[in-house]
Amino acid sequence: MDSILVKGGGALSGQIAIAGAKNACLTLMPATLLSEEPLTLTNAPRLSDIRTMTELLRSLGAEVTSLQDGQVIAMSSHAIDNHKADYDIVRKMRASILVLGPMLARDGHAVVSLPGGCAIGARPVDLHLKALEAMGAELELRDGYVHAKAAKGLRGGVVDFDFASVGATENALMAATLAKGTTVLNNAAREPEIVDLANCLRAMGAQIDGDGTPTITIQGVDRLHGATHRVVTDRIELGTYMLAPAICGGEVELLGGRIDLIAAFCEKLDAAGIDVSETPQGLRVKRRGDRIRAVDVTTAPFPGFPTDLQAQMMALLCTADGTSVLEEKIFENRFMHAPELMRMGARIEVHGGHATVTGVDKLKGAPVMATDLRASVSLILAGLAAQGETLVSRVYHLDRGYEHVVAKLRGVGANIERIHGT
Ligand code: UD1
Repeated sequence: MDSILVKGGGALSGQIAIAGAKNACLTLMPATLLSEEPLTLTNAPRLSDIRTMTELLRSLGAEVTSLQDGQVIAMSSHAIDNHKADYDIVRKMRASILVLGPMLARDGHAVVSLPGGCAIGARPVDLHLKALEAMGAELELRDGYVHAKAAKGLRGGVVDFDFASVGATENALMAATLAKGTTVLNNAAREPEIVDLANCLRAMGAQIDGDGTPTITIQGVDRLHGATHRVVTDRIELGTYMLAPAICGGEVELLGGRIDLIAAFCEKLDAAGIDVSETPQGLRVKRRGDRIRAVDVTTAPFPGFPTDLQAQMMALLCTADGTSVLEEKIFENRFMHAPELMRMGARIEVHGGHATVTGVDKLKGAPVMATDLRASVSLILAGLAAQGETLVSRVYHLDRGYEHVVAKLRGVGANIERIHGT
């Protein structure tokens, strides 16, 4: 298994190009199943999760071709000959459940294994299933699989989400595009990835209103056609790299960065003493003083502070002046990075969904273990600011969500290298 070795110390300067969003791409790819015509995605990120989705779609009979070094994904689903998403693929990635809505909407039947993914809580799929049932699907859970049927096709319905689940909103939105009649999704998720999906579906001929608000209305159509769509910027990769100069000092420009994707996060950076300014090409980030100020952070669905940046923010606050409280409201078990950061000298106390972080002057390099995708990058950020060497093991988590992380950070002067097979 590969590791990443980080030698902390210096300030960073230069530019980092931000990729297309993993989480957008993982919902845009299953949208190919809604049409017999080709769907092409540009600005796709090069990640192992994208390869897993490619493998899943191919197993269903879709043609998926990776072009331009993986930045373009050309898909065609004219012949879907398998309607079963197998456990062996689905267990690798929770987003696999997103093939359920499209297959069911198109062909009236689908069998999908219950998903796996990061070990950050129970993460059931009940909201996905409830939404599809509201559109007339008949569902049965058997042997670890969801067996779904809609013999006469899906019909429009009203879905009241108990919680604004991102994945459940995406599954329902895709399914509703081909349902007969009108579907209303109440308390829908508002994440930029939902708006990106709606933009792509509209380009394919879908009739959707209200995406980006809590109520999305979809007027079903008989068929969708082909389209080419550019994947929105990855706001989580953006936020992660914004924290690099915040932690290490220096000044970095994030190419493709947009404040509207990440406003709640930018407000917290400002409160912590970090300047964020817009440039013609993106965003520039610079620390104002020598020491970060402590800030309290509570994660929330968009437009709130993203749970996917909580671990990275904690890495920043480990060396802040004062005590910060981080409250995790989306997932019940998402502080696994805390004990690893404590190995580097951080002072953190975790009580249920709260972590209290008392800033120390300096972190110290140590061998640490990545426990999930965002936790692993938080350890790299901490290592960049620590004295000495930090060896982050189990970096396969990182490969799920960050393309070329070593090259991108080296490009702004970080001392970081990948060590193969340790
Ligand atoms: C997506 C993102 C993930 C991010 C999360 C929250 C993708 C591929 N992943 O995940 O990176 O951390 O949004 O912003 O886009 N829940 C249920 N029942 C359900 C569905 C969800 O109880 O049917 C719960 C989950 O256990 C979790 C919470 O709702 O506690 C949020 O989940 P959800 O918004 O669905 O996240 P994902 O779509 O899985």
